[in-house]
Amino acid sequence: MKVDGQLYRTIWLNDDKNSVSVIDQTVLPHRFVITQWHSAEDVADGIRKMVVRGAPLIGASAGYGIALGMLHDPSDKGLERSYKMLFASRPTAVNLRWALDRIRAALLPVQPCDRAAAAFAEAGKICDEDVSNCSAIGEYGRSLIKQAWDATGRSRPINLLTHCNAGWLATVDWGTALAPIYKAFDADIPVHVWVDETRPRNQGASLTAWELGHHGVSHTVIVDNAGGHLMQHGQVDLCIVGSDRTTGSGDVCNKIGTYLKALAARDNQVPFYVALPLSTVDWTIDDGIMSIPIESRSPDEVTTISGHTNEGELCEIRLTPEGTTALNHAFDVTPRHLVTALITEYGVFKTTPEEMAKLREKQFCTVCGI
Ligand code: MRU
Repeated sequence: MKVDGQLYRTIWLNDDKNSVSVIDQTVLPHRFVITQWHSAEDVADGIRKMVVRGAPLIGASAGYGIALGMLHDPSDKGLERSYKMLFASRPTAVNLRWALDRIRAALLPVQPCDRAAAAFAEAGKICDEDVSNCSAIGEYGRSLIKQAWDATGRSRPINLLTHCNAGWLATVDWGTALAPIYKAFDADIPVHVWVDETRPRNQGASLTAWELGHHGVSHTVIVDNAGGHLMQHGQVDLCIVGSDRTTGSGDVCNKIGTYLKALAARDNQVPFYVALPLSTVDWTIDDGIMSIPIESRSPDEVTTISGHTNEGELCEIRLTPEGTTALNHAFDVTPRHLVTALITEYGVFKTTPEEMAKLREKQFCTVCGI
């Protein structure tokens, strides 16, 4: 996507072939800073501190993390060391494990002296595939938005609600939940987006609003508790969110608060779509509530808030009384029966056992080339 007229991806290999650049998401929307990674340690630290975040981008970053690790120690032991360190960086998004397993499987048959080159090639492929998968998700999702617009007799903009940031910043490009919105906007379908601020880290207010603004998409930031009220008053046509881990049965784990939006959507007959590439599906589990590890983050993210002063300084301020404790679970699970359908790179699938089996078959057949 473009930032001030210049095309960017969120991550890329530099010309020196020894370092990787990323957009630092901890300082957006106030600063646009590119940061460089030189080692697997840099990448693990960047994922942990959320310099990069969003399930597909975490996976893509981990791929480059292994590649940078191979520059320093390409032995089997070095590979395991980088794998373990990156694997421990964040627990919920399954794309991390998916990318690490894929790169390790590609490297094990390769001689250590050739591993760095092979790892950079595989990491580059993961990135390119993520871009084409997200673009396909965008096309399928755009048709759903167009149907909603046609159903109004093309009489008014379609109002979408999204939670957290599942835009291009959360992937390599295009995004998942926002890809259909960008594609609809680019096709002159009028859209307006309600952006949940998404406390405690405010990925909606900071990142989604920044992205949509740069693309010219009409949007309004709302507090996290406003969505249900808007739905009751007919002001939301569709919800679209992303996913950090989707079970084989269609349960969806996404940023904390997603579940409450899905409940409100069901109560108000608002379609609730989840947009995701198949790298986000964990076919090894069925019951999301029991099986998905939910990241618990620092209480400081709840008790403080950061922003930009009128003097242009970035600063953090305390919201709660000194010594107040806080709980900070970063994700929740929306059970499959609240999900209208999954928008994937293979099309739109309901979360019924039959449709999930079809989705699995599509992925398997593509991998084995049938
Ligand atoms: O904690 P974050 O910012 O990494 O959480 C991100 C989300 O919850 C996204 O909605 C999810 O990763 C889908 S991204 C395309």
